Amino acid sequence: MSENGLSLKVLEAYTRDVGRGVARIDYDSMDTLNASTGDVIELKGKRRTVAKCLPLYPSDEGKGIIRIDGLGRNNSGIAIGDTITVKKIKAVPAEKVVVAPLEAIPPIDERYLADALESVPLIKGDNVMVPYFGGRLTFQVIGVTPAADAVLVTQKTTFHIAEKGETLRGVPQVTYEDIGGIRDEIKKVREMIELPLRHPEIFEKLGIEAPKGVLLYGPPGTGKTLLAKAVANESNAHFISISGPEMSCISDVIINGWIRSKRKSYCNFCNQQTKCN
Ligand SMILES: Nc1ncnc2c1ncn2[C@@H]1O[C@H](COP(=O)(O)OP(=O)(O)OP(=O)(O)O)[C@@H](O)[C@H]1O
Ligand SMILES: [Mg+2]
Repeated sequence: MSENGLSLKVLEAYTRDVGRGVARIDYDSMDTLNASTGDVIELKGKRRTVAKCLPLYPSDEGKGIIRIDGLGRNNSGIAIGDTITVKKIKAVPAEKVVVAPLEAIPPIDERYLADALESVPLIKGDNVMVPYFGGRLTFQVIGVTPAADAVLVTQKTTFHIAEKGETLRGVPQVTYEDIGGIRDEIKKVREMIELPLRHPEIFEKLGIEAPKGVLLYGPPGTGKTLLAKAVANESNAHFISISGPEMSCISDVIINGWIRSKRKSYCNFCNQQTKCN
């Protein structure tokens, strides 16, 4: 362990931990950090965030890994497979937390946030998610009192919801943890899309060309679009969804009212593409 902390390789969270502000490390790492179950640890990637430390399952012991969910990865600015620096810090009970919604939200009682986020450690700048009627609402923490390395939400914490901010960092709308099953497919797609996007230098060095496109096929509703969204989010790539008919009508030469409107949406898509590139 260096004086900055312990370096560990990031893997996805266990499904049960998603949205709980938890990071799991093995007992050896806990000993090195002088931390025990329930302590708060600081995670430092491109950004800094905090999480509650829990032990990994025995099958994951001794691998030098840390399991963090998509939100924690987004808050610390790292992706699966990256190395992150971890150290133990002290968290104090939060008195007041000011959050700004990252999307349009329904009227919601601020006390609900304290209930939903109870015992989650936070710092200013973190994004948080709370479950809401089968979906989830996302907020960014824009202020905490008292000023400390990290604060812990308790039943006594008062939340204040501020106006929706324009300059706030987004949250991953879909992460790998949202996908059930299809592990082999996720692995292949990550190798083909995420790796070349995040580490183009590897492909350059090896002199091989990264795939230019990937075709996912399978029965309807099995998660193809979901997987594409997750890969885009996890790779920090822009995601544009267009439906099949909008593409196929382009080759159609008969331009009646309907086809023209479809052409228009394809043109919009092309324009968006140009803006992104
Ligand atoms: N493996 C999965 N894990 C979790 N949710 C899933 C999974 N597969 C599908 N879903 C859910 O089912 C719905 C349909 O999934 P999705 O749109 O990704 O399917 P698709 O394979 O793209 O279908 P289509 O062929 O019709 O485009 C979504 O709400 C998605 O969240
Ligand atoms: Mg689809």
